[in-house]
Order: sequence, then C-alpha cells, then structure tokens
Amino acid sequence: MPNFRKKEVKIFSGNANRPLAAKIANYLNLPLGKMLVSRFPDGEIRVRCLENVRGRDTFIIQPTYAPAENLMELLIMVDALRRASAHTIGVVIPFFGYARQDRKTQSREPITAKLVANIITVSGASRVIAVDLHAGQIQGFFDIPTDNLTAMLLLAGYFKKKNFQNPVIVAPDVGAVHRSTEFAKEIAHSTQAIFVKRRLSPNEVQTDRLIGDVQGKTVILTDDAIHTGGTIVSAAKEVMRRGAKEVYACATHGIFASDSPERLENSPIKEVVVTDSVSFENRTLPPKIKVLSIAPLIGEAIKRISLHQSISELFERKEKK
Ligand code: R5P
Repeated sequence: MPNFRKKEVKIFSGNANRPLAAKIANYLNLPLGKMLVSRFPDGEIRVRCLENVRGRDTFIIQPTYAPAENLMELLIMVDALRRASAHTIGVVIPFFGYARQDRKTQSREPITAKLVANIITVSGASRVIAVDLHAGQIQGFFDIPTDNLTAMLLLAGYFKKKNFQNPVIVAPDVGAVHRSTEFAKEIAHSTQAIFVKRRLSPNEVQTDRLIGDVQGKTVILTDDAIHTGGTIVSAAKEVMRRGAKEVYACATHGIFASDSPERLENSPIKEVVVTDSVSFENRTLPPKIKVLSIAPLIGEAIKRISLHQSISELFERKEKK
C-alpha cells in the first residue's frame, strides 16, 4: 500500500478561500504550508514562501473568481515555489474564474478562459485540479495535465437522502445537460428535462422553452454556477408556472453576485445547495442556501495524484449503481 505520508507533500493557500484550504489540509492530515501572502504598502501583492520546498510536490489552493487579485496571488505563489525549486506545483482551482468567455459568441470578444489558462501554464504550474469547469473543453486549454473533478455526485448524494418520488432533474440550459445527466444517474427513478435559455444581458435571461414534462413533479435544477441567480430563478419560476409540485436547485459554485442571495430567498425555490468552492467567510447567506464541502473530494484527488493513482476511479465507483 503506497504511503501518502512518505511523499512529504506540501499544501499552500492564497487568500481567496482559506477555510477550504484548511479543510483540505485537515483531510490529508497535513499542516498548511507557511507562505506569506500579503500586500506591499502600495497595494501590490507580496509573497514569500516561509519553508523549504526544494524537491517537494506542492499544491496551491486558490479559486480565481473576481477580484483579479485572486488570480494574481496564484500566479505569484507559483512563481515563488518554482524559484524555490519545488519539484512539482499543482494548482488547485476549486472555481475557475474568467471561464464564461470560453469562445467568441460575438465579434471582437476575447476568450478569457484560454488567456487565463495560458497565464497559469506560463507561470510554471505543473498541473491543474479544477472542479466543474464551466465547459469541459476548457480542460484542453491547459497544455499541462488537468483534472476536472465534479461535485455532481456530492450534490446528488445530498438530494438522494430526501427520497423524492420520481423527481425531474432539470438542466437550466443546454450547457448544463452533461452535468445534470451525471446527477440524474445517481437518483433512482428520476427523469430529465432541459431548458433552452437565451441570455439577454449579463443579468437577464429568457427561459420559457422547456423540453420535458414537470407537471406535478419535484424538480431539481442543476447548474455549474449561480452568479446573479437570473438563470436558476427564472427556470424555477417557469417550472412552477408549468405545474411542478416543488422546486429545488443546486450548483457547484455559489458565486452569489450582488443581490442574488435575496433574489434566491424570495424565489419559489425551496432550498439551494452549493459547495464551498468559493469562500463565504465574510458573508451571511440566507437560510435557504445550504453549503456542502468539496474538501474531501479535492483532498482525495491530491492524495491520488501524489501516489500516482487513478482520479477517474473516484467517480467510476458511484456510476456503477
Ligand atoms: C451559464 O452558461 C452557466 O452555466 C450558468 O447558468 C450561469 O453562469 C449562471 O449565471 P446567472 O446566475 O448570472 O444567471
């Protein structure tokens, strides 16, 4: 049996999600590595690794959602570890920001997902661990090994315990179909439905076309992320208008921009379940929002990578049900 302790892996955290990093370290039974990540008086980021990493396998936990300081901290931390002769630098990005512009939908638009992937690669990262990337193909934007973990089984496991009768798992847009199918496979006797969404502006969507039947059913909406809540709330209202019995929602990433927590609280959704891929440390979320931790999932992935074991097996086991 390979011994993880002997690998002398070191885990570091930026400031974007220290509570999650602490939970991952705890799962691995390791202390968080000592790294100063602060600011110079002029506001520039100041990083200094405070322990020896020469020849070690290292991992940095840092989601890259706004502000861009989070991304910049990550890049500088990678540079610090590289120049300190770390053997490998695994970049753990529980939520990969700047992902929604992953292709040109209108002329003269950037492709930020590729740009950010390039910057991270060039900074010196050896590999990436991400969770539910906005689009699966973003994995290929990195020219280094990249594992795209999914929290869908964790979220499905939560809803499974509720023993709903024949629930309908609804994808709020076509891009969410693959993930909601993975979710649905875990829920016995569930069926699926798909919304055809049209985005009118960054905080306005139109979801009035639904493929599938929700009449009299419990609906579980599944998405990768909730930003303004526009998508999920509009889909929830539409399924209720079509006669659904009740509606729940879940997403891996609860970004909860601007007034979205209130928007969700005042919506017909009974409960919104997300993960701790972004930090809620200084926020009070409404009672309707439930947060599950992805620390065991990421911790297990780090362990398996370090021991040269399969990551896909993590998900295969549950698929066999
Ligand atoms: C979009 O394609 C994504 O999958 C989500 O549906 C979207 O990011 C949610 O954003 P919002 O909450 O602002 O509607």
